[in-house]
Amino acid sequence: MPLKTILTTQLRLRYPIIAAPLGRGSTPAFLGALAREGAFGFVALGHIPEAELRQTLSAYIASAGGADRFGVNLVLIKDQTRRLETALDAGCRVVSLLRGDPVPYVRRAKDAGAAVFWTVSGPAEAERAADNGVDFIVAQGREAGGHLTGEAPLMTLLPAVVDAARGVPVVAAGGIADGRGLAAVLALGACGAWMGTRFVATEESGSHPGYKQMIVASGVSDLVETSLFDGGWPNSLHRVIANSTFERWKAAGCPPNGSRPGEGERIGSFPEGAPMLRYNVSAPWETMDGDWEAGALYAGTSVALITEIEPVGQLLARTSAEAEAALRLNIDYVL
Ligand SMILES: Cc1cc2nc3c(=O)[nH]c(=O)nc-3n(C[C@H](O)[C@H](O)[C@H](O)COP(=O)(O)O)c2cc1C
Repeated sequence: MPLKTILTTQLRLRYPIIAAPLGRGSTPAFLGALAREGAFGFVALGHIPEAELRQTLSAYIASAGGADRFGVNLVLIKDQTRRLETALDAGCRVVSLLRGDPVPYVRRAKDAGAAVFWTVSGPAEAERAADNGVDFIVAQGREAGGHLTGEAPLMTLLPAVVDAARGVPVVAAGGIADGRGLAAVLALGACGAWMGTRFVATEESGSHPGYKQMIVASGVSDLVETSLFDGGWPNSLHRVIANSTFERWKAAGCPPNGSRPGEGERIGSFPEGAPMLRYNVSAPWETMDGDWEAGALYAGTSVALITEIEPVGQLLARTSAEAEAALRLNIDYVL
C-alpha cells in the first residue's frame, strides 16, 4: 500500500518525498528525474541572474513535464520580488520561502494560485506561517546539511511545529536519509520528508562527483557547523564537511572575514566564466573546474546513513518500502 498523505495528494506524487534545493546541483535533469519517478524537487533561484531566469526556467519546465511538476525556492536575504514575479509568470505554481519576511511573498504567490512552503525556525514562526495561509510548513531540524534555520533537533522540533501549525501540514527536514527516517517523521506528525544531503549523493543530481563521493565516505565527525563559506550569504551558520579551506583557516587561528588564508583566491570558474572565490557560498557542481574540494561541501548528519550513490528512482522506491515496513513492524510489535 503506498504512503498516501496530503503532500502526495496535493502535489500528485507517488512518494511523500521532496528533494531540497541543492544550489547548482538542482539541474533540469535532476528535477526531471524526480518528477518522472513520482517525487518533487525545488530549484533555488538566487544564483540565477534575473535576466536569464525566464529562459532558464523553460529548461526546467520542459524537463519536469510542466511548470507545476517542480518548485522554486527563494532565500529572502535580499529582495526576490522580481524572481518571484518571473517564476509565476512562467507558470510556476509551487513556491518555497525561508528567512527574511516571507509574508509579502506568501500573499503574492497565493494571489497567483501557487502552493506555498515556508521553512520555519520553530513553533513561533510556524504560528505566523499558519496565520498567513501557507499550504505547507517545513520544519528543518538542526541535523540538516546546508544553512541552518531550525532552532532544535527534529525529534523535538517537529512535534512542536506540528502543534503550532494548527492543522497546516508540516514537512520534515534534517537528518532523513532512509525509510526509517521517513517512518519516524510520519509518526511524529509530518506529511512527508524533505531531504537534501541524501539527494546530493544520487546519480542524477548535478553536484560534483567528488562531492558526492565525500558524502558517501564521511561520518558525522567529519562535519562542522560554521559560517565560513559566507561569500554571497554572510553571517549564516551552515553544516559542511571539513575540507582544505576549513582546515587551513583553523590552522591559521580562525581569523575573521577579511584576513582569512587565501581570501579572494580563485578556486574555479562559474559556468558563466566569472571567478569562483574561496569562501564562496556555492557548493561544487558537476562541471566545476579547478579546486572543487575547497568549496562549500554542505552535508548533514545523515552522512552516517549514506553508503552509496544511488539512482533517484531506486532511492525513492527503497525509502518508501522501508518506511512502510518500519511502520508495520512497529504496529505488530505494539500489538
Ligand atoms: C547542497 C545543499 C544546498 C542547499 N541549498 C538550499 C537553498 O538554496 N534553499 C533552501 O531553502 N535550503 C537549502 N538547503 C537546505 C535544505 O533545504 C534542507 O533543509 C536540508 O538539506 C535538510 O537536511 P538534510 O541535508 O539532512 O536532508 C540546501 C542543502 C544542501 C545539502
